[in-house]
Amino acid sequence: MLRLDKLVKTYRTGDQALKSVEIEVPIGQVVALIGPSGAGKSTLIRCINRLVEPSGGKVWLDDVELTALSSGALRRARRRMGMIFQEYALVERLTVMENVLSGRLGYVGFWRSLLRRFPQKDVDEAFRLLDRVGLLAMADKRADELSGGQRQRVGIARALIQNPALLLVDEPTASLDPKTSRQIMRLICELCAERGLAAIINIHDVALAQMFVQRVIGLKAGEIAFDGPPDALTPEVLTRIYGEEDWQATIKTDETAEEAVA
Ligand SMILES: Nc1ncnc2c1ncn2[C@@H]1O[C@H](COP(=O)(O)OP(=O)(O)O)[C@@H](O)[C@H]1O
Ligand SMILES: [Mg+2]
Repeated sequence: MLRLDKLVKTYRTGDQALKSVEIEVPIGQVVALIGPSGAGKSTLIRCINRLVEPSGGKVWLDDVELTALSSGALRRARRRMGMIFQEYALVERLTVMENVLSGRLGYVGFWRSLLRRFPQKDVDEAFRLLDRVGLLAMADKRADELSGGQRQRVGIARALIQNPALLLVDEPTASLDPKTSRQIMRLICELCAERGLAAIINIHDVALAQMFVQRVIGLKAGEIAFDGPPDALTPEVLTRIYGEEDWQATIKTDETAEEAVA
């Protein structure tokens, strides 16, 4: 269970990115976090693993208060949280396999890993994951030789190799074409179901979110404007989240996406 308790983030610039956000995500639940650009989606997921330091409130993962941890304890706790990024954040000159294995080290100490041999069981697990995400034949390719969809599959395998309890996913499909976006969303959601993972997926494509998740949270200017099943996202609700003009733009984008897939 992930619990955000009155989470607040005010940046030094004075931007109030999160205003007392309360969310509970049970084990195994995948949540899509939607909202306009600047709503605070990235800030929210980064406050959970404290890549961004919250200004107030608490974050709990099961019985551990993440916001109370010292840096060493935080490093260990981060191993329970896999992160997947829009821009993949792969090391271009390393192979697919090396990028996946780098996930074993959490977020720090990466360069040390280059000097270290990985245990055979990590290598075996990396092969299993590459097989699952459809990249087994690519294990020895360099990251910079891959397509966007393939790069995101590497990002997914890298996040999963640390065997997390929670996945934090920031706009995983923002750089991908509509068809690849669907495949990647499907893969992430299937893997969460297979492994009983909780996940928060930031996504600006409402139609794509509705296709794959059971719960949607709408964020607007740092506050929750909607929390419910995808079916309850009526035009009125979307207008509340996105505002009139932006919502029109969103509809157009979605229709364009549908046409491109069809
Ligand atoms: N590093 C930062 N310094 C100052 N303000 C920031 C920083 N990152 C984000 N913000 C501000 O916080 C708000 C939320 O941003 P963000 O979390 O990136 O939203 P989203 O991911 O929904 O687009 C915006 O007003 C943005 O300008
Ligand atoms: Mg963002």
